[in-house]
Amino acid sequence: MKKKAELLRKKDSVTILGIESSCDETSIAIVRDGREVLSNVISSQIDIHTKFGGVVPEVASRNHVMAINGVLEESLSKAGVKLEDIDAIAVTYGAGLIGALMVGVTFAKTLAFSLGVPLIAVNHIRGHMCANYISHKDLTPPFIGLIVSGGHTAICRVESFTDFKVIGSTLDDAIGECYDKVARVLGLGYPGGPKVDKLAVEGKYNIHFVKDNLKKTYDSSFSGLKTAVINYVHTLTQKGKALPMEDICASFQSEAVLPLVSKVVRACLDYGYDKICVAGGVSANKFLRNALTIAGEKAGLKVYFPEFVLCTDNAAMIASQGYFNLMAGIGLSDTDLGATSSIPL
Ligand code: KG4
Ligand code: ZN
Repeated sequence: MKKKAELLRKKDSVTILGIESSCDETSIAIVRDGREVLSNVISSQIDIHTKFGGVVPEVASRNHVMAINGVLEESLSKAGVKLEDIDAIAVTYGAGLIGALMVGVTFAKTLAFSLGVPLIAVNHIRGHMCANYISHKDLTPPFIGLIVSGGHTAICRVESFTDFKVIGSTLDDAIGECYDKVARVLGLGYPGGPKVDKLAVEGKYNIHFVKDNLKKTYDSSFSGLKTAVINYVHTLTQKGKALPMEDICASFQSEAVLPLVSKVVRACLDYGYDKICVAGGVSANKFLRNALTIAGEKAGLKVYFPEFVLCTDNAAMIASQGYFNLMAGIGLSDTDLGATSSIPL
């Protein structure tokens, strides 16, 4: 396979089929040369997990198994390509839910083996950053990356398409997890991020939950804020008072997002970069998009976000990272590739 990968690196154009199944989205995409999306089919299980108030891992795995064949067929047909046209298979092997990941990894290994094409292992979190290369065709590293998802919150130096150095991360919860927990205590259901985002537009930042106690570092902490919001809601409920839903959302969101905005701008200036790229599910958040764009402009920095459909989990970003891995000679795998629930960025 090493030889085949080498030959692909010399080809004019490389078509990669990407597979994503790390959480509750079964997705298969076909992407040319890392940036041109021919298809990106996403089958979401949100309706199934909403009943449980969050993702149930075993249910997610079973639904990936049921969905994946249909998603492959739809993806090929939308792209107008046949399996024989695929040059390589890229798959998320971590981080994520182990059973869910195993479905995608096993499917990818089988496809790659039967087609006789290279298999490329992709780190899901790095994959998120590639959504920006698809949305902004001329964008290239180096830059400061902000990763904000359901499982991760990190500020990193992105020095090349495959070289990430983490300079700050959350000391406890991820920001998306915090959005989901706050939404849950407010009775907004799963996934909570978009619902909190929407309600916050109608509210004011007039409740002070916590002070940003990590001002000097690039690290963040969200569990104190989450607990403060939960305690505030419980206290009002016990007293039989109505919850100022919109203000709670606006205040929580300000205290979760604004410290991150100032940290990432400071990191960009400290390290001498001229651009910031945001990735992960929470990059769809309108308040974050707005606040960081304004702060970036003030500091003379360019700020990039992926288009909305590429913010949350999808296979186009995985195929894109697969392409850049292939070009850098990274992640080339075989039938012994395993899924890993937790991997460093
Ligand atoms: O990146 P992602 O799809 O999955 C992981 O890799 O974790 O991120 C999912 C997270 C969830 O916590 C969801 O609530 C959050 O992204 N999210 C948002 C918004 N849209 C999705 N959080 C805040 N505002 C949004 N508009
Ligand atoms: Zn994700």
